[in-house]
Amino acid sequence: MTTKNGFIPGLEGVVAAQTRLSSVDGQRGELIIGGFALEELAGKATFEETVYLLWFGEVPTPDQCLEFRARLAAQRTLPTPTLDLLRAAAQHQAEPMDVLRMAAGTLSLNAPTDRHEQALALLGRLPTAVAAYWRLCQGQEPIAPRTDLGHAANYLYMLTGDEPSPARVRGLETYLNTVIDHGLNASTFTARVIISTGSDLVSAITGAIGALKGPLHGGAPGPALDTVFEIGSPDRADAILREKLTRGERLMGFGHRVYKVYDPRAAVLSLAAREMYETDGDMTLYDLARHVEETALRVLEELKPGRNLQTNVEFYTALLLHGLDLPVALFTPTFAISRAAGWIAHCFEQIEAGRIIRPQSEYVGVKGRRWDKHKIPTSS
Ligand code: COA
Repeated sequence: MTTKNGFIPGLEGVVAAQTRLSSVDGQRGELIIGGFALEELAGKATFEETVYLLWFGEVPTPDQCLEFRARLAAQRTLPTPTLDLLRAAAQHQAEPMDVLRMAAGTLSLNAPTDRHEQALALLGRLPTAVAAYWRLCQGQEPIAPRTDLGHAANYLYMLTGDEPSPARVRGLETYLNTVIDHGLNASTFTARVIISTGSDLVSAITGAIGALKGPLHGGAPGPALDTVFEIGSPDRADAILREKLTRGERLMGFGHRVYKVYDPRAAVLSLAAREMYETDGDMTLYDLARHVEETALRVLEELKPGRNLQTNVEFYTALLLHGLDLPVALFTPTFAISRAAGWIAHCFEQIEAGRIIRPQSEYVGVKGRRWDKHKIPTSS
């Protein structure tokens, strides 16, 4: 609904930027990242290659990739003030997304002056902050990052101290590639608004983390998996899902505001989850999740006909990240670790665009009020 002054609630349908980074077509179920269909890119590229593609617009040559990977790896160590903050936050068992936002803010203290170095420092240090904080919360000391591991492998290594299997690394790389960018979503818009004022990358990424924290954006993939655990065995799926829908509940992990025919991210993550579980996981859980998905789609079509409710990205995100032994509390921070690369790429674009984002508002308050100065009563 638009008012006579052109106000559109939620800016729905408003085009507020031009980008070469990603294209989301909900009607066709299509997501393009840096010119590649998601299905073409996500399961093949390393995370570093996808980041390079978004930041520089080209697929890196093997030499460029090695150099980029080494420069990113060299930025992984956390400065002392950031570690001090994580230790203090762990004493309060603060919410991980709040802590990631605070930790990102501290990175101003040691930020390189060159913008590309600043970008590498942000991207390199965010996973270290998440892993270190999680270990501190469990009463364990942080594990120092390794420079010989790729971005995804090093993140898993810093959480447990175990070098992850190639299947697990591939699973995480595919996830990180899948969620790296998604058009002008709320956190990306936040980053672009902040950088458009001439502010710096640390401020833009800190603000974007704040926007991603909200459950309407960063999502809640935990509940999708809760339903699978609640069902427990395939023979219970139909009855439990029917009961939920009859009670008016929504099935978590199904339906999407934009993707009405098919969520390409769900399809890519479904395949990635199968490959990972087949080589390095519990196939009973994977098979149960597939059965729950098939039953849910059938029951939704029967009880909610014509709504086009399909499996969304949250369903397979939950299954994949759970298979990597990530706790639910780290699902959204792990999403942020990837999306930070997209935010930074958008900041580079916005800097090139060179125009402050400054929309207008429609005044709906009263006018013509009089200010009558009252005497302040004095105590007798
Ligand atoms: N389970 C059951 N019914 C659902 C549903 C779900 N997951 N998602 C939508 N519907 C139904 C609504 O009840 C509504 O039915 P009605 O016509 O009888 O009132 C109809 O479909 C349209 O719902 P609406 O909220 O207008 O659709 P939307 O496109 O705006 O909603 C979501 C998108 C994501 C908010 C919604 O699908 C949802 O709540 N899904 C579950 C939560 C989830 O998985 N979130 C992660 C998203 S990535």
